[in-house]
Amino acid sequence: MKVLGINAIYHDPAAALVVDGEVVAAAEEERFSRRKHGKRPLPWSAWELPELSAAWCLRHAGIRPEELDAVAYSFDPALMVTPEETGLFDDGDVMRQKYAQMAPDFLAHALPGLDPAKVHFVKHHVAHAASAGKAAPQRDNAVLVLDGRGEAHSHLAGRYVDGQLEVLAGQSLPHSLGLMYEELTDHLGFLRSSDEFKVMAMASYGKPRFLGELSELIRATGDGGFVTERIDFTEFAPRLGKDEPWTEAHADLAASVQTRLEEVLVDLARWVHEQTGEKTLTMAGGTALNCVANTRILAESPFEQVWVQPAAGDAGTALGAALHVAAELGERTEPMPGAALGRGWTDDEIERWLETAAIDYERPDDVAEAVAEVLADNGIVAWFQGRSEYGPRALGHRSLLAHPGFQANLERMNDVKGREQFRPVAPMVLLERAPDIFSRGPIPSPYMLFVHDVAEEWRDRIPTVTHVDGTARIQTIDPDTEPLVHRMISAFERRTGLPVVVNTSLNTAGRPMVDDPRDALECFGSAPVDLLAIGPFVVRRPRPTPRP
Ligand SMILES: [Fe+2]
Repeated sequence: MKVLGINAIYHDPAAALVVDGEVVAAAEEERFSRRKHGKRPLPWSAWELPELSAAWCLRHAGIRPEELDAVAYSFDPALMVTPEETGLFDDGDVMRQKYAQMAPDFLAHALPGLDPAKVHFVKHHVAHAASAGKAAPQRDNAVLVLDGRGEAHSHLAGRYVDGQLEVLAGQSLPHSLGLMYEELTDHLGFLRSSDEFKVMAMASYGKPRFLGELSELIRATGDGGFVTERIDFTEFAPRLGKDEPWTEAHADLAASVQTRLEEVLVDLARWVHEQTGEKTLTMAGGTALNCVANTRILAESPFEQVWVQPAAGDAGTALGAALHVAAELGERTEPMPGAALGRGWTDDEIERWLETAAIDYERPDDVAEAVAEVLADNGIVAWFQGRSEYGPRALGHRSLLAHPGFQANLERMNDVKGREQFRPVAPMVLLERAPDIFSRGPIPSPYMLFVHDVAEEWRDRIPTVTHVDGTARIQTIDPDTEPLVHRMISAFERRTGLPVVVNTSLNTAGRPMVDDPRDALECFGSAPVDLLAIGPFVVRRPRPTPRP
């Protein structure tokens, strides 16, 4: 059984392919089109399909469009209500509905040979739910979808028993934790439905002194749902334009909303635990990328484990929709094998790219040792290995690496990436060494979706990755699943005593993550990076970058 999943309606268009119950490929359109987030989440862009990523998924598996058993589209226009009924009064919904209804014909055009009758519409939040509950390693689990919006809802609470979803609660619009956080993102001068993680970072600089007022306006209702009243954020701090400097009041507002969000999410998690008694909570939806909230849910809800879909935003609905439809067609689906579901290249193919670029390169005995050498010398390394990641985080396949022992490297990395200086960078750590250094969050933590406390005695040793509040958003590296990355960090530890390297995504300002070897060469060519480690090869910058 071959099922292609498609996310197209709002943002982060993506495609995923499930063959005989197994996830064989998944990729975001932005990695192919080189346009960040694929498109803007505007009504008139709802027709745009992830044509390039969908075609690649099929090519990767050697499948022709006419051989597909089904295409799963992660939005069901029949479930939409009028703009008045949602209470959002969003006239764009009329256009979204029309384009979604036409998606089968559009898809048949984009994938010649596809029978439009094979396109199934999947409720948006059922697709998110499946991307968590059916992709997680624990087959039975409780599930929370924490989103901005779907057809008429913003949330779903349920459980998976033997692969079947039972929906227990859903919150209808206009109440939406995701949209409320997007409003704040916009109010603080950032890009809505894109920059929410900047608000989370800003929150760590503030005090939640507006919590009292917000507790009335944002609250769980005790029945699995919640209320979000309209909030006039100007009552707390003035609206900011793009790149305008923020003040203590802005940080305090971010801290207050963040804290209130965490409290309500903990309430929702407790409710779904009461209903299900499951040990594992799985989560998806854009709000589930809030790693500070995720750690709090793990710490304060009765669940023993919390598993979050690494592509928790809308991109992940392509995967979830495909898993859901495969199961509906009678397939027993398997958990996702990891996040490295995108494009990869053979050594020969990579070498041909290097030859084409007419650039000096070497093939060291061990690329892991060569990289560790440069990192130990405080160089910056562009690391391009294996298949690219599905979801917004670099997880050791398309990464920018640095020494974590120098405070100045935070500024240096943010300069390379053209990012705000208050943004933290994250550590990759050897799995077996992680408990010595990090606590509170879960270990293992392979997808960087939780925050951990950095042990007091380690904070000065790894200042680049220790945030102002003494936390770090870690990725643990398991030698079984990531042997090359593990070898590279081990080689770094032998030289420096630190089982940790700085890891941030391989891209420059405003661009999607590097995906193919040419992107890697372009990124290396334009950014102050000392070494490009691409497959077994390395390319050195002739003049080393200034070391702080
Ligand atoms: Fe969504």
